[in-house]
Amino acid sequence: EATFTTVEDGKLYMATNAAFPPYEMIADDGSYEGIDVEIATAIAASLGLELVVDDMDFGTVIIAVQNGKSDIAMAGLTVTDERKQNVDFSDSYATGIQVVIVADGGAVQSIDDMEGDDIMIGTQEGTTGYIYCSAPVEEYGYGEEHVIAYANGATAVQALMAGKVDCVVIDNQPAIEFVAANEGLSILDTEFAVEDYAIGVSKDNTALSAAINEALAALIADGTVQSIVDKYIVA
Ligand code: ARG
Repeated sequence: EATFTTVEDGKLYMATNAAFPPYEMIADDGSYEGIDVEIATAIAASLGLELVVDDMDFGTVIIAVQNGKSDIAMAGLTVTDERKQNVDFSDSYATGIQVVIVADGGAVQSIDDMEGDDIMIGTQEGTTGYIYCSAPVEEYGYGEEHVIAYANGATAVQALMAGKVDCVVIDNQPAIEFVAANEGLSILDTEFAVEDYAIGVSKDNTALSAAINEALAALIADGTVQSIVDKYIVA
C-alpha cells in the first residue's frame, strides 16, 4: 500500500471557508460543522488521522494546499479546468448548482433581467459564480463592472437586502438556507450552472489523493456519505 504524508503527523488539515451552509459553518458552540466537515472527519478517521479545520477566505483554499499549509481543500469546491492546473481533485462527492437569489419586488425577477444596463450582481469572491458573471458579455458573462465580490455568501445576501445589488449568484444549498433565514427573498427557477464538488489535494501528494479516493469510495458505498447529507439537507 502506498504511504502518504500530511502536513502534521496524525492530522489532516482541511482548508475551507466556514460561511457556506450546509457544507461548512460555525455552530453555536463555536465548533465547525456541515456536510464537508463530517465527510472530511470520516475520511480522516479511515486514514487514522484527526481532522483539523483551517478556516480562511475562500479565495485562498487552493493556495493553502499548493503551499503545503493544508492537506486538502474542501469547501463546496467546484471542479474547474483552471483549478485542475493547481490541484488534483478527488472523485466528486456532491453536485452544486449555481442559482440566482432575488429580492421580492426588485429589479431582477428573471434571468433576462440580469442583462439590464443598471443591474449589479452580488457574488462571493473567488467563486465560480463570480467567474461566470464577471466574464465579458461575449463569453456569456455580464462584465466585471456589473459584479461585486463579497467576502462570503452571507455578506452578499445582506447587500441584496440593503438594495446594493439586484441579485446574488451562489450555490443552491447555501441559497436555500439564506432565503429561509431572511424575509423577502426568493430563488429563480432557472439553473445557472451545474457543477461537481470535489476535494483538492496537492499535485505533489498523489499518495494522499489515492488514499482519499479509496476512503471516499468506501464511505459512499457503505451509505455514510448519504447519511451525512440527509442530516443537513431535508429532501
Ligand atoms: N462552488 C463554488 C466554487 O467552488 C463556491 C464555493 C464556496 N465555498 C465556500 N466554502 N465559501 O467556486
